[in-house]
Amino acid sequence: MDKILVTGGLGFIGSHTVVELQNEGYEVVIIDDLSNSSIKVLDGIETITGKRPLFEQIDLKEKIDVENFFVRHADIKGVIHFAASKAVGESVKEPLLYYENNISTLVYILKELKKLPSAAFIFSSSCTVYGQADELPITENAPVKKAESPYGNTKQIGEEIIQDTCKVVPTLKAIALRYFNPIGAHESVEIGELPIGVPQNLVPFITQTAIGLREELSVFGDDYPTPDGTCIRDYIHVVDLAKAHVVALGRLLQNKNKANYETFNLGTGKGSSVLEVVQAFERVSGKKLNYKIVGRREGDIISAYADTNKANDELGWKTELSLDEAMLSAWKWEQKVRAK
Ligand SMILES: NC(=O)c1ccc[n+]([C@@H]2O[C@H](COP(=O)([O-])OP(=O)(O)OC[C@H]3O[C@@H](n4cnc5c(N)ncnc54)[C@H](O)[C@@H]3O)[C@@H](O)[C@H]2O)c1
Repeated sequence: MDKILVTGGLGFIGSHTVVELQNEGYEVVIIDDLSNSSIKVLDGIETITGKRPLFEQIDLKEKIDVENFFVRHADIKGVIHFAASKAVGESVKEPLLYYENNISTLVYILKELKKLPSAAFIFSSSCTVYGQADELPITENAPVKKAESPYGNTKQIGEEIIQDTCKVVPTLKAIALRYFNPIGAHESVEIGELPIGVPQNLVPFITQTAIGLREELSVFGDDYPTPDGTCIRDYIHVVDLAKAHVVALGRLLQNKNKANYETFNLGTGKGSSVLEVVQAFERVSGKKLNYKIVGRREGDIISAYADTNKANDELGWKTELSLDEAMLSAWKWEQKVRAK
């Protein structure tokens, strides 16, 4: 079976994707510098799949290390590139850190892929490229709006770099997957999301509040033009998201792609408000969540959810897990992590 490099494979989405790749029989090599993950994630992957993936601790900003890796692993057939820094707020304060980590690593990998006889490349992009879309649900044809943060800009620039490269490197085939809002954990609760410091995202903030690590959840604004006044997002279970990577990779490896560079939205197609997510949490956990409504937060998009037709029809993939299932797995994961 083909050998696949998963960069950032010990992170949240990467680890779940490694599980699904191994379940499908792929041989996986992980590169991660552990800047936002733990080596213990390897144990979790091994427990679930019965197989320990190869792991190399490499900082992808070190160009020479990337080159040497591909010399050692000349038989790599595909790369799923998760490794990046992802904290939006931090990217505003430290833009160069983000441009360096998210752009240089991408360029170094593409340079190596250019040398291979053929290569499949999957890129972690984001629905942030759409900003506040003019029409909902958001299709892949919606215009890319000016990025709100350096982080968001690295995803837009990243897509452009890949597209430009694919135009002149016929042996390279790539798919940019634009994730909506990944949440949840593997049902085994052997792996999950491990945010360092104060969580930037709603669901880990909810579970950390419920477990007593945070005093209360601030809901930023309840006067938006939505049914309950709170912002709406498309929350996708991380296991569904992980499976989409396996399908996208197979599409490229089996030459089923329609162009050398393609984009797909990965979401459920259903928007949920902040209060609906809180209610889902309360429903599955049986706990009341301590939250208060505060003023709007600058830069927040009112509503974003995916049109999933292209992913459903072209990839033959659709989400299977519900918001409640995602919230329950996130809650079980939080309890397990804190029990240690
Ligand atoms: N989680 C989300 O909400 C979300 C949404 C849209 C897009 N994305 C993108 O998906 C990808 C994965 O996100 P995640 O939530 O799993 O993040 P994560 O931080 O959990 O995983 C990223 C992994 O990459 C590693 N890494 C970072 N820089 C590296 C470097 N220079 N060399 C080697 N390893 C490095 C980190 O240690 C971490 O394990 C990222 O590109 C992110 O921008 C995430």
